[in-house]
Amino acid sequence: MRSRIVGLLALVSLSFSLVALGCASSQPTGTNDGGCGGDACGGDACGGETGGDKLEERFAKNWDVAKTLKGDPEAGRKFFYEKTYGNLMTCASCHSMEKGDTMTADAGDHQRAAISVYGARWRTNIKNTGSHNATLGGDVCVPYWMGGPEEGAEPQDLANLDAFLKASSGDKDHATAVNIDWKARSYTIPETLTGGDPERGKKMALKYCGTCHEVDGVAPLVDVDERDLHGGGIPADRLGRIAARIKDSGQKNNEYMPGFSDQRMPEKDLLDLLAWFEKK
Ligand code: HEC
Ligand code: HEC
Repeated sequence: MRSRIVGLLALVSLSFSLVALGCASSQPTGTNDGGCGGDACGGDACGGETGGDKLEERFAKNWDVAKTLKGDPEAGRKFFYEKTYGNLMTCASCHSMEKGDTMTADAGDHQRAAISVYGARWRTNIKNTGSHNATLGGDVCVPYWMGGPEEGAEPQDLANLDAFLKASSGDKDHATAVNIDWKARSYTIPETLTGGDPERGKKMALKYCGTCHEVDGVAPLVDVDERDLHGGGIPADRLGRIAARIKDSGQKNNEYMPGFSDQRMPEKDLLDLLAWFEKK
């Protein structure tokens, strides 16, 4: 499993670069939480024509068919919130889709591990590029995160998702649609991991982890059937392992759990969260 994932990592980076290439030239290419941040993909390997060709080979077939189909936005909505493949994650496990979303924060109570689709980087020019970029991004996430087939989602599912994304996010000038500075993204593990506020940390656990994990008996938003999280019980010298899981951009410490960038989880939030985990 691990080698399949690492193999996909390079592809995923290439594909997200292509997502950016499909946008206006002012759109940045670069790293993202899902791919290029990891050590499997460094520098030039993350972009360029070759990557695009490979991506075309891999996903174009389904998208070419999808373009000829009529998409049903309601079925696309269902796909976004409910469709699962090899594990229990849905698109909504990692992306929110609410009008109040900004590039760095979700409008709801949960802060997802990936950027909200509503604030995705293609939004400012979605009318010019079409939402196939979003669909393509989602298609990459299907094999990479959701345990789906390597060729991605079925054509009809892509057409439905496309219709849903167009219907829900088709405005050209969404107030929060500012392009992300992808290159500025970072994943920092502070040198000192102790000293946070455990009470605030519990709130942070609900906010950041409660999408996928049960937190002190509070049921997750989507149940990915992973370990329940509880406050206390972790000796201070093991906090580093948890920090590494949370701040992992390249699946070195987790196969399916995406890392939180510093831009999505500031240091104070991480330290308070770790204080909640720490055995006193
Ligand atoms: C396990 C988490 C996870 C799941 C599940 C997931 N994604 Fe993603 N997705 C990510 C991560 C991480 C990125 C990288 C972008 C970032 O830095 O946040 C990403 C990137 C994207 C992008 C590109 C955004 C941009 O601006 O470049 C789109 C679009 C997208 N995903 C849509 C989807 C759709 C649609 C689904 C469901 C079919 C889905 N994703 C499922 C984690 C996930
Ligand atoms: C998008 C869903 C998702 C989110 C959000 C998420 N996790 Fe996870 N987590 C998973 C999955 C799936 C696994 C299974 C292991 C893997 O990824 O390989 C996991 C595994 C773990 C493990 C390892 C469990 C073990 O037995 O080894 C820890 C610890 C953990 N998560 C903590 C957290 C914390 C803390 C947060 C919040 C900062 C968080 N997770 C947010 C999905 C998520």
